[in-house]
Amino acid sequence: MAAEALKPLNRPNPDKSNPDEPNTNRPRYILGIETSCDDTSLALVTAKGIVHEIETVSQFDIHAGYGGIYPELASRAHVAAILPALQAVLDHSQVSLEQIEAIAVTRGPGLIGALLVGVNTATALGLAWDKPVLGVNHLRGHLRSAELDGHKVNYPAVVLLVSGGHSLIAHMRSPDDMQLLGQTRDDSVGEAFDKVARMLGLGFPGGPIVDQLAAEGQDTMDFPRPMLHAGYEFSFSGLKSAVRRAIELDPALSRPDACASFAAACFDVLIKKCERALNETQAKSLVVVGGVAASRPLRARMQELTDRLGVSLNLPPAQWAPDNGAMIALAGWDLWRTKNGSLDDQAPIVANPSLPLAQL
Ligand code: KG4
Ligand code: ZN
Repeated sequence: MAAEALKPLNRPNPDKSNPDEPNTNRPRYILGIETSCDDTSLALVTAKGIVHEIETVSQFDIHAGYGGIYPELASRAHVAAILPALQAVLDHSQVSLEQIEAIAVTRGPGLIGALLVGVNTATALGLAWDKPVLGVNHLRGHLRSAELDGHKVNYPAVVLLVSGGHSLIAHMRSPDDMQLLGQTRDDSVGEAFDKVARMLGLGFPGGPIVDQLAAEGQDTMDFPRPMLHAGYEFSFSGLKSAVRRAIELDPALSRPDACASFAAACFDVLIKKCERALNETQAKSLVVVGGVAASRPLRARMQELTDRLGVSLNLPPAQWAPDNGAMIALAGWDLWRTKNGSLDDQAPIVANPSLPLAQL
C-alpha cells in the first residue's frame, strides 16, 4: 500500500470561531453511508433534505464482465473506496465536526459483506467522533429519496420502488408511517430488464439498453402480464421465461420488438397495481423511485395515469434513483426525529441482509 494511503483521516474542520459553544446558526447535517450493494456513497444532508455534499464510487466496471454483482468483489471494493470517499466528502464540504448531528448507515437489506463495511465504518466513526450512529433500512431510504433537495411529496402517497434489487409498492401516510402493500415474489423489475438484456446479448446493466431499443420496436409478441389482477404482489420470472422461449423459437427475432413487448408487459403490471393502490387508499400522490423510474415510457405512462386520476405525480430527479448516501441520511433524520434526538436505548447496529421494510 502506498505510504500516502496510510495518512490519518482528517477530521471535519474544528469550529475555530467559538470552540467552546456550538454555533447553533450553522446548518446541521447527518452523514449518510450506503454500501448495501455496488455503490459506495457518502453524503452530508440537512434536516430539510438538502444535499450539501455527496461522493459516490460506482463498481460498474468491476461487475460488468460477470453480467451481475459478484458479492465478494463488491465487499472488497467497498473496503477500498469508503475511507477515500469519506475524506473527499469532508474535504469538499468544509463542515465542522460540531455540525454533524449523527451518522446514518444502511443496515439492510443487501449483501452481508457489503453491508458490514458500511456498518463497521459508521460504528468506528461514531466512537472516534463521539456521535450517535443510526441504522437505516435501505428500502426506506429509496422511499424517501423523492424528498431530497427540498422536493415535497403530497401525503398520503402511494410509492412504487422499482430498482435492480427491489420492487415493491407502499402506502405512506407520512414519512414516518409506511405500510408495505406488496412486493415481488421473485425478480425485481430491474433484474428482469437486466436478464432479458443478457438473453438478447445486449450487455450489462441492460435496463437502459432494453428501454432504448424498445422505443424502436412494437409490442407484437403478446407476452403475459403476471399477477395483473391479483392484489399488490408482483412476479416477473414467468415473463422472463416467456422472453426466453420466444428467443429459443426464433433466435433471429426482432430485438426492438422483443424489448418493446417485454417492457410493455412489465409496465402494464406496474400501472395496474399503482392505479389499484391509488383508488383503494385514496392517496393524493404517486411517487415512483428506483433505477427503472429513469425509463421515459414508464414516466410518460405514470403521468397519463395520474392525470386521469387527478392525483399528483412525484418523480425524483434521476440523480437520486440509484443507491446513494443522501437518501440514507434523509431516512436517518426521520429516525432521529422519532427518537427525539436521543439514542440512549440504541443497541449496536447489526447488519441484516434480509431486513424487511417493516423494520427500521
Ligand atoms: O435503483 P438502481 O440504480 O440500483 C438498485 O438496484 O438499487 O436500479 C438499477 C436498475 C438496474 O436493473 C437497471 O437496469 C435499471 O435499474 N434501469 C432501467 C433503466 N435505467 C436503469 N430499467 C429500465 N429502463 C431504464 N431506463
Ligand atoms: Zn437500492
